[in-house]
Amino acid sequence: MPSAGEGLRERVDALAPWFHNIDLGGGLTTAPDHFLGDYPREKFAAFAGCVPDDLTGKSVLDIGCNAGFYSVEMKRRGAARVVGIDWDERYLAQARLATETLGYGDSVEFRQLSVYDVAKLGERFDLVIFMGVLYHLRHPLLALDLIREHVARDLMLFQTMQQGSTGLSDVPEDHPFFVPGTYTPPPYFDDPAYPKMHFIERRFAGDWTNWWAPNRACSEAMLRASGFTAVAHPQDDVYLCRVADVPYAQHGPAAVYPAQPRA
Ligand SMILES: C[S@@+](CC[C@H](N)C(=O)[O-])C[C@H]1O[C@@H](n2cnc3c(N)ncnc32)[C@H](O)[C@@H]1O
Repeated sequence: MPSAGEGLRERVDALAPWFHNIDLGGGLTTAPDHFLGDYPREKFAAFAGCVPDDLTGKSVLDIGCNAGFYSVEMKRRGAARVVGIDWDERYLAQARLATETLGYGDSVEFRQLSVYDVAKLGERFDLVIFMGVLYHLRHPLLALDLIREHVARDLMLFQTMQQGSTGLSDVPEDHPFFVPGTYTPPPYFDDPAYPKMHFIERRFAGDWTNWWAPNRACSEAMLRASGFTAVAHPQDDVYLCRVADVPYAQHGPAAVYPAQPRA
């Protein structure tokens, strides 16, 4: 690893604040006082085992790559092609500095692109990383649909901030207005384990860029509804998913709203 000489500390400081604490060698780390500790290294250590160890020949898309921690880790696992996208140019500048310093400057491609524009990439990736972005979006289900439709080929590593119940309730096939034979609304919407997306009109943890906080059931339902099947759940908020055979969109409106027989 290179030493922290030749103005590197100044370049790191000039790009502060950093959300990823990355060890650049020579005793230089990018966010040593991170409020979540040694983040995301410690978080990754807790679920790294569910990601294939050997990514030789595979392609990876890191959506909302921030300073590139996960992009570099996938490169370390041998990925042939890693593309990191983020809509914030300040984070991409951090990612470029970190990967260059760590010796991966030529092998990770960073692009300023929103998740809503992934179709512009024009290719599918063996592994899509979609960590820590969903709850920042005004249109989270749209983002999952676009990922499924345009860039995911096989695996997706997914993480979202979650709030509320960690329980799972059975999702009914249909939702009648009333319990049959009564004017009582069915009880499941008040079940804490029913899929719920909490809307954040103002700030969450002081951050106005947070819009939604799903409970666990909602995270899982949204993944299913956008054509992903969870194959591992190594942490409360982390899922490894596989692209399902049939994307939601291909079920078509007839399956979503099945034709009712006329009386
Ligand atoms: C909480 S950070 C997560 C960073 C990293 N993926 C991780 O899990 O450590 C959220 C990142 O998503 C990026 N982001 C937010 N909205 C985005 C969008 N519409 N398209 C692409 N990136 C976005 C932010 O700029 C930020 O870098």
